[in-house]
Amino acid sequence: MSQLQQELEQAVNLRRTFAIISHPDAGKTTLTEKLLLYGGAIHLAGAVKARASQRHVTSDWMELEQQRGISITSTVLQFNYQGCCVNLLDTPGHKDFSEDTYRTLAAADNAVMLVDAAKGLETQTRKLFEVCRMRSLPIFTFINKLDRPAREPLELLDEIEKELGLIPYVMNYPIGTGDRFKGVYDRASKTIHLFKRSGHGQREAEVQILPADDPQILDYIDQDLYEKFLEELEVLDTLGPEWDEQALHRGEITPIFFGSAMTNFGVELFLKSFLEHALKPGVHDSSIGEVSPVDEEFSAFVFKLQANMDPKHRDRIAFVRVCSGKFEKDMAVTHVRSGKSIRLSHAQKLFGQDREAIDIAYAGDVIGLNNPGMFAIGDTICIGKKRQYAGIPCFSPEIFAYLRNPNPSKFKQFRKGVAELQEEGAIQIMYSVDEAKRDPILGAVGQLQFEVVQFRLQNEYGVESQLESLAFSVARWVEDGWEALDEVGRLFNTLVVKDSLGRPVLLFKNTWNLSQIESDHPKLRLKAIAPIA
Ligand code: G4P
Repeated sequence: MSQLQQELEQAVNLRRTFAIISHPDAGKTTLTEKLLLYGGAIHLAGAVKARASQRHVTSDWMELEQQRGISITSTVLQFNYQGCCVNLLDTPGHKDFSEDTYRTLAAADNAVMLVDAAKGLETQTRKLFEVCRMRSLPIFTFINKLDRPAREPLELLDEIEKELGLIPYVMNYPIGTGDRFKGVYDRASKTIHLFKRSGHGQREAEVQILPADDPQILDYIDQDLYEKFLEELEVLDTLGPEWDEQALHRGEITPIFFGSAMTNFGVELFLKSFLEHALKPGVHDSSIGEVSPVDEEFSAFVFKLQANMDPKHRDRIAFVRVCSGKFEKDMAVTHVRSGKSIRLSHAQKLFGQDREAIDIAYAGDVIGLNNPGMFAIGDTICIGKKRQYAGIPCFSPEIFAYLRNPNPSKFKQFRKGVAELQEEGAIQIMYSVDEAKRDPILGAVGQLQFEVVQFRLQNEYGVESQLESLAFSVARWVEDGWEALDEVGRLFNTLVVKDSLGRPVLLFKNTWNLSQIESDHPKLRLKAIAPIA
């Protein structure tokens, strides 16, 4: 084995890359912060938020984030814990930007599903779960806010199993909830970690650990709670599944952790177990077959573009996920789509809003490259044998509107702005098949995505725009293209449009209309996710 190969093996073995999926308010920001706290990346929880608000506005676009108090941008947080290098791919909090989260999941090897113990599964979590399922990502579940009144733990497990078809394997189990939350039982070590109520947990929590059968335990836990816990544990031991790491890696079993991110409780237990069981960076499918992460030839794909993070530079950053080999500063790579050779001289690691030059990266890592308009989402860069990684899927938007340019003299800027925002993935663009209707149709997951497009057209391209809503809520791509559509003839209650690549897309007012068309035309194959170009 060559020296480089040894180095690659070692780096890949120590890497874990994941993203958190959750519904707004479940505690993603809090959990992220606590993971960073344990990873030693920050020293006081609250630092990330506080620093962000003290910071001057760093871009016009961020001004919109500040005005609305939302987080649109997302970055990558890297930290070390017990010798492992952990990449946490941060995703925007607001549901209107979930498309961004879908793409980020394409760069993750694992997902952490964060659930509010009082609410159980919520809409956004369900949607994001579907994306994880599509990629068979291993899913770890953290059930949060046990320090507050919560639903019955067994009921939450049942919900995960029945609604998501995901088998829950309990790693730790809570004793009491809310005011009577006493701690969790760790099944692997057969110990009870006692919960101590402490404000917002700015520092790592001190945990008192006792063997589960230690008689002293009743000094801390009321008899009735302890008995209820023992009964439920017996149910888990007799009816619960066996631990099966392979099933986790296939996305069939989910290890379950209970805790309270705000008070740091259960976070460390979770992190340790996550690092032990999470999937390491693995092989990726490409046009030349499967590529191993320890293949010596460097390769990576672009999963996200972000424009104008720093107005002084009017720059665009392409986020690439390394799939194989070793990234080294200044290396020359092939940009596969254009066939051009490019030098990667300004690679960056982005930590929240901070940037740091990066010299070396391995499979599983994410680096930010300055993008002078060359990269598009799904592009591959590599050295050696040319290959193309499977593109990033494009999901059905849920709201649609014509975007009009009221100022014919600004036609060129308008067209450039729309094309660049589409390329960046800020919005999906479709066009009417009627040549006379040239205005682009915007497709988005939420209204705020429209607002961002209009805001940025004005700020970055100097063009005004007007929106005219369209009463559709579902899009479906026609699998076999225009020919298949011609065969079925006229469709009712449907608008036929084409996407930015000229492929046919059907827009429906609601899912009822969609089902109607599907049952009337069983031969027509419709897809909620665009076929990869
Ligand atoms: P998000 O990113 O998923 O949207 O959620 P975020 O972390 O911002 O948390 C949402 C709210 O839930 C915050 O309260 C946060 O403090 C609270 N929270 C998160 N984890 C826990 C937990 O384990 N226990 C309890 N009791 N609360 C939790 P907030 O009032 O909106 O903000 P703040 O004033 O507390 O910062």
